[in-house]
Amino acid sequence: MKRVKEKAVVVKRKVKSLMRRFVRKLAAISDGHVMSLYAICPEGIMTKAGNPLVLNEGQKQILESYYDFCNIADELECETVLMGGDMLHGQNPKERGLGLMATDLDTQIDAGVALYSRICKGRKSVWVQGSEYHISTPGHNTEKNICDRIGKLPETETIWAGAVVNMDLDGRIINFSHGGSGAFIYRETAMAREIMFSKVAWANNKLPKIDMFIHGHWHWFSYLHEYDVHFLQLPGWTSFEPCPIFIKNYVRFQPDIGGAIILMDDEGRIQVWHFLYPVPRITYIQNKVLKDGVMSI
Ligand SMILES: [Fe+2]
Ligand SMILES: [Fe+2]
Repeated sequence: MKRVKEKAVVVKRKVKSLMRRFVRKLAAISDGHVMSLYAICPEGIMTKAGNPLVLNEGQKQILESYYDFCNIADELECETVLMGGDMLHGQNPKERGLGLMATDLDTQIDAGVALYSRICKGRKSVWVQGSEYHISTPGHNTEKNICDRIGKLPETETIWAGAVVNMDLDGRIINFSHGGSGAFIYRETAMAREIMFSKVAWANNKLPKIDMFIHGHWHWFSYLHEYDVHFLQLPGWTSFEPCPIFIKNYVRFQPDIGGAIILMDDEGRIQVWHFLYPVPRITYIQNKVLKDGVMSI
């Protein structure tokens, strides 16, 4: 059969490029859980006794991803950073300190300062407190200590906002908190409920009209944009931690790793760009780290 030579079809298109001017650029990170063997940790940290802390391969990968996100925040010239809580792992009392690189909170604070200085230095940052379990010792707020120490760096401003804060971003109200622990599994439902109740509270004149929610805690990225409201759930910087409460929903609790950039243009329109990275499967069996989290038998 004779083949018909196809003619090249030339389509004349008009390429329209949209130009937007972003007047506000924020980087947002959460749930670093520094000092967990399953989470991010900076290099070169020593315990108070002078023992160097060694990172496993998975931790090195998460650290590399974090520095990549910091470079993106630099490139995009983000002027503000949002720090969503659980920035340290704490002493893990329920697990009797299991799964930690160091239980001493001063070492944990040193590591937190070293790690988060990279993204906060030279910028303004707003910090909200994480879950009580990770703040650890009562009367001792490790996250606030890190926030205060980083705030002493040159051209750097840190604001400790406590449990929750409503921030005015050029006329848009952003509600920022670490987030609660309710509705672990059907998280999208919890997000929709919070949006609805915020509108009731606004109608009753109890709260300002919230234009955006930003929460951490679930180590999971999700972004919902509904009529007149944005809802951003931040990913974390930790792989799966084999805690009994997480084993119940092992497949649901596989986390996301990364951060988000929140952009606002000169018409007040909000846009979120997420940056997610591969999640290492850090697994220890009898003090050995398993490659790819699978044990050969
Ligand atoms: Fe967390
Ligand atoms: Fe938390």
